[in-house]
Amino acid sequence: MKNTANYINENKEKFVNDLFDLLRIPSVSADPAFQGDVQKCAKTVQDHLIAAGADNVEIIPTKGHPIVYGEKIISSELPTVLVYGHYDVQPADPIELWDTPPFEPTVKDGKVYARGASDDKGQMFMHVKAFESMMKADELPCNVKFMIEGEEEVGSKHLGEFLIENTDKLKADVILVSDTGMIGLENPSITTGLRGMSYMEVELTGPNRDLHSGLYGGAVQNPINALCNMIATLTDEHNKITIPGFYDDVEEVSQAEREQMAKAPFSLEQYKKHLDIDAVSGETGFTTLERASIRPTMDVNGIWGGYIGEGAKTVIPSKAFAKISMRLVPGQDFHKIGQLFKDHFESIAPEGTSVKATFHHGGKPAVTPIDSAGYKAASMAMEQTFGKTPVPLRSGGSIPIVALFEEVLGLKTILMGFGLDTDAIHSPNEHYGLENYYKGIETIPYFYKYFTELNK
Ligand code: BES
Ligand code: MN
Ligand code: MN
Repeated sequence: MKNTANYINENKEKFVNDLFDLLRIPSVSADPAFQGDVQKCAKTVQDHLIAAGADNVEIIPTKGHPIVYGEKIISSELPTVLVYGHYDVQPADPIELWDTPPFEPTVKDGKVYARGASDDKGQMFMHVKAFESMMKADELPCNVKFMIEGEEEVGSKHLGEFLIENTDKLKADVILVSDTGMIGLENPSITTGLRGMSYMEVELTGPNRDLHSGLYGGAVQNPINALCNMIATLTDEHNKITIPGFYDDVEEVSQAEREQMAKAPFSLEQYKKHLDIDAVSGETGFTTLERASIRPTMDVNGIWGGYIGEGAKTVIPSKAFAKISMRLVPGQDFHKIGQLFKDHFESIAPEGTSVKATFHHGGKPAVTPIDSAGYKAASMAMEQTFGKTPVPLRSGGSIPIVALFEEVLGLKTILMGFGLDTDAIHSPNEHYGLENYYKGIETIPYFYKYFTELNK
């Protein structure tokens, strides 16, 4: 991999400029106003894959946003790595909280600031640049396929169907993904678990119209008051979720694995400082790292209703709404949890209101083994470039399609992410360290090399 390493060293600046091509396009998958930009971004990914040396690069339409596919098949005797990533991004809102415009990538203190810099354009593009480097150096050791989607941030709505219809096209030996994080550049880690998700929306209706709060206040249910009370009962004083049956299928993590987790370098003081909070909060009996990875949770993502304009208006609103998500762990089924939530939430609505709870989207949790050839190759690759063996660590985030990779394609996924928890993904001022970007590009070719050797 010597020539590859040289090529990388000589082209670092170009790699950053190329990434900027993607970061300048507001490919927000959730908002139809950006549909043209999403298309344009797919085209840009296609152009870069072609320039990097991939064959048969196509933009495959779906009922939603397109998938970009490309490949380099050098021999049927050699293993095939299927790279997955996403070119869509979260909305940039609230835009006024960005220090630099979200779609004008800006380098500051060795970091690129832009929406998608870390999640996932920057990380996905490391694979394109690593591939380009191996191609230019004539050192590609195995076959590679790229599947870059445009709907990850809206639940990968159409990718499952694509997998089912294209099992032949997607035939591979392992799936390699960089869409997660690691502990730090000094402490590499490999993600071995993702949480699942059940996302609900609730609507509580009281009187048939907004009312004068002086004439009616105190005499009829206020749907916002009632919704807040209902939500407040969903967790108890130990921050356990009170929905009957919620924990029934949760697979408890072994004491041995918890002890292993506790060894991961983590500073609670730093964590609090970074968030400007004076205390953490969560389920009794679990550490912060555990609460944010191996335990299921419930969070209100948004709540609205009534008057929120300038000044004051005295009104009892007719309706109140909330978006509520639950992160799930292995054992839990997102359909079942959605139903449990719906049944429970509808049962606790007070007299004088009616409630509607609807299912938004869901995804399965995933855990990946640490004794597979893919994990070993990732571990050896990181050891090569970081000088330190990475530790396995479960993450609290979700990538719903990963469970389907195993179910539909029968393939293990390796979550070799290079982001940091502090990258502010989904937040204002998202950024990605140039060091992380380069480290990723340097590490990926070694994954190919070791994976190929382990499969001989
Ligand atoms: N890349 C993230 C997930 C992630 C980030 C996992 C960091 C582990 C560490 C992904 O793009 C994402 O944001 N997923 C969504 C789920 C989706 C259904 C909207 C999430 O986790 O909220
Ligand atoms: Mn992502
Ligand atoms: Mn994301």
